[in-house]
Amino acid sequence: MPINADTLRRRSAAEMDAAARGFGEAVWLRDAFLRVPREHFAPARVWWPSPREDGLYSLIDRGERPKAWLKAVYSTGAPLITQMDDGLIPPAGPAKGAFTSSISYSGVIIELLRHLAPEPGERVLELGTGTGYTTALLATRTGQGTVVSIEVDPSIAERARQNLNRLGLDPLVITGDGEEGHPASGPFDRIIATASVRTIPRAWLEQLRPGGVLLAPLDSPFGCDLLVRLTGTGPGTAQGRFVAQLHFMRFRGQREPRPYAELGWPDSVEVDRWQELRVEAGPRGQQIIDPTQQRSTARTARAESPLQ
Ligand SMILES: C[S@@+](CC[C@H](N)C(=O)[O-])C[C@H]1O[C@@H](n2cnc3c(N)ncnc32)[C@H](O)[C@@H]1O
Repeated sequence: MPINADTLRRRSAAEMDAAARGFGEAVWLRDAFLRVPREHFAPARVWWPSPREDGLYSLIDRGERPKAWLKAVYSTGAPLITQMDDGLIPPAGPAKGAFTSSISYSGVIIELLRHLAPEPGERVLELGTGTGYTTALLATRTGQGTVVSIEVDPSIAERARQNLNRLGLDPLVITGDGEEGHPASGPFDRIIATASVRTIPRAWLEQLRPGGVLLAPLDSPFGCDLLVRLTGTGPGTAQGRFVAQLHFMRFRGQREPRPYAELGWPDSVEVDRWQELRVEAGPRGQQIIDPTQQRSTARTARAESPLQ
């Protein structure tokens, strides 16, 4: 069988049918995955995310190695790095730097969207547009005029806009700080972040409608991010649980580490009990609650502000 994008996309879908963290019962997600050409969103030059022996990351150039590039695009388990050091390193050859943008790997996007479970016609806010690939999957599900996506890097945002428009998809791609959300377009039925936060921005909670779902990778003391799935419980408040372990790039404004006690985490939690933790977030900050321990009194720094 010739190796082309359609073949590879169907092969990836078959992998995701069999994966424990794949499509599951979400038939709509499989359909969307098969309808959106992932190769259309990947830049012509990307870095492979595992370092070579010399510590540099190899560049895969579609012009020079079209088959290797296409296979990399359809790897279900490896993101392709599209930016290092906020764009200071040009994609001109092997390089080393902090990963600051990517086309997320299909396995993780499928997991996120399965947990998000958007319905046709729902209003969606996405934070961290990147290439626009996840945005396209969302818009394919929820329909015209439903998706707003925010990307902090102007050139990445512009490329995503063009990628989406060329496929006839109409999400509103805003260049700006995703931590602020987009109040003018809210409230939203679904909010999804594809970069991780240490603390859930208050604007997201305020723009989530009661009963809506907010999904975001949250930094944890366990050496990974935990995907938190919150349901809106009232104006500016939400609660829920962690549903998966994963790793994401951090939102630009939340790169600096902060003590976990300041971020609402209990003093000590055993790593293998992460699924038992409950999460509450609201105007007074976020709290991660271990039901077997006393309720944590730690609050986010914002919660301690006298203005709250
Ligand atoms: C992992 S990438 C998202 C990849 C995307 N899901 C895809 O598959 O193309 C994370 C993105 O978040 C963006 N980002 C980081 N901080 C941000 C912020 N404060 N507001 C909006 N976007 C931000 C980065 O520039 C990067 O493009």
